[in-house]
Amino acid sequence: ANKKLLFLPGDGIGPEVMRQVRRVIDWMDRKRKITFDVSEGLVGGAAIDAHGVPLSDATLAEALAVDAVMLGAVGGPKWDNPTDYTKRPEAGLLALRKELGLFANLRPAVVFDALVDASTLKPDVIRGLDILIVRELTGGVYFGEPRGITDIGNGERRGVNTQVYTTSEIRRVARVAFELARKRGNKLCSMEKANVMESGLLWRQEVTKLHQEEFQDVELSHMYADNGAMQLLKNPKQFDVIVTDNLFGDILSDEAAMMTGSLGMLPSASLGAPDANGNRKALYEPVHGSAPDIAGRDLANPCATLLSFAMCLRYSFNLDEDAKLIERAIQNVLGGGMRTADIMAPGMARCSTTVMGDSILRE
Ligand code: NAI
Ligand code: MG
Repeated sequence: ANKKLLFLPGDGIGPEVMRQVRRVIDWMDRKRKITFDVSEGLVGGAAIDAHGVPLSDATLAEALAVDAVMLGAVGGPKWDNPTDYTKRPEAGLLALRKELGLFANLRPAVVFDALVDASTLKPDVIRGLDILIVRELTGGVYFGEPRGITDIGNGERRGVNTQVYTTSEIRRVARVAFELARKRGNKLCSMEKANVMESGLLWRQEVTKLHQEEFQDVELSHMYADNGAMQLLKNPKQFDVIVTDNLFGDILSDEAAMMTGSLGMLPSASLGAPDANGNRKALYEPVHGSAPDIAGRDLANPCATLLSFAMCLRYSFNLDEDAKLIERAIQNVLGGGMRTADIMAPGMARCSTTVMGDSILRE
């Protein structure tokens, strides 16, 4: 069967960066004889304009039917005002993640040699860095009940969120992380705060148990998340794969991202549970947003989206060699001095989105 992809370019620079992925897909078809069936849909503000909702039922049905979804970005000032939250562009993305059951968010932090100077950290600390943070995405304190703000008398109010994890929620995301570690450096570090949180203690127990049962060949360590935040800055190369909960993962993945220099370079993947054939629902998207400040001007850096497509090739289609082709092409183009505005440095050649795409294709 052909490989089925749904393209959701979205808003702002989304369509501009996704166009460069489309060119790589055409190239793969011609030069590698690897053919994708690509369908295209609307999400976010573009879908609100066309259908009145940020994710139509038809688009959702298509997303559920394909092997993988590639998304650009959603949002923009045009749609920022409405009082109805379900009509905001972000609601389309959240609905998509929820309906696809995407519980594992993969956030690589890879430092490209040519961009070491763009980072705010010491070059020797980050040169050659290649780590992967696996963040639990559908549980924890962002969703736990009870939650809310209540009056408790005497003019006092109380805000409540609840951190909740069940064993199955912990095990399924830990399993993804162990399996990824096996394909990489065979090293997993699990982060929580088992010293002060019940959910953290359960997390540590379940990860340890799963390790004993199925993944003894992977080197497992545990770290308190606050120490993890320090270690990421002090010596990030001690890590290979990190697995952590929704809240800590939100913070730690943003922290790790800063080491790589620019939002325009950061890809992500979100994976769901495997079906009977071992195939997972999956969504691939750059970490950045729709960048309204530069949209429509051919200025955006397409690398984050192209690297997201490389992840798609690797994790949804088992095309590791082709993923590496893209990653190496980007590395070489950066090594040759080509830079979009966001990663521009003295002595480098400033280029547009399209020219960056041209150069990567040629490479
Ligand atoms: P943003 O990521 O869109 O932009 C932040 C800054 O980084 C801007 O100065 C932008 O020009 C720059 N930037 C981002 N991606 C770039 C790229 N590929 N190349 C060059 N420069 C790039 O975040 P911001 O400004 O907070 O949000 C803008 C809109 O995007 C909002 O409507 C927000 O809700 C939405 N958003 C959507 C996300 C998504 O679709 N996953 C994620 C984050 C924000
Ligand atoms: Mg965040």
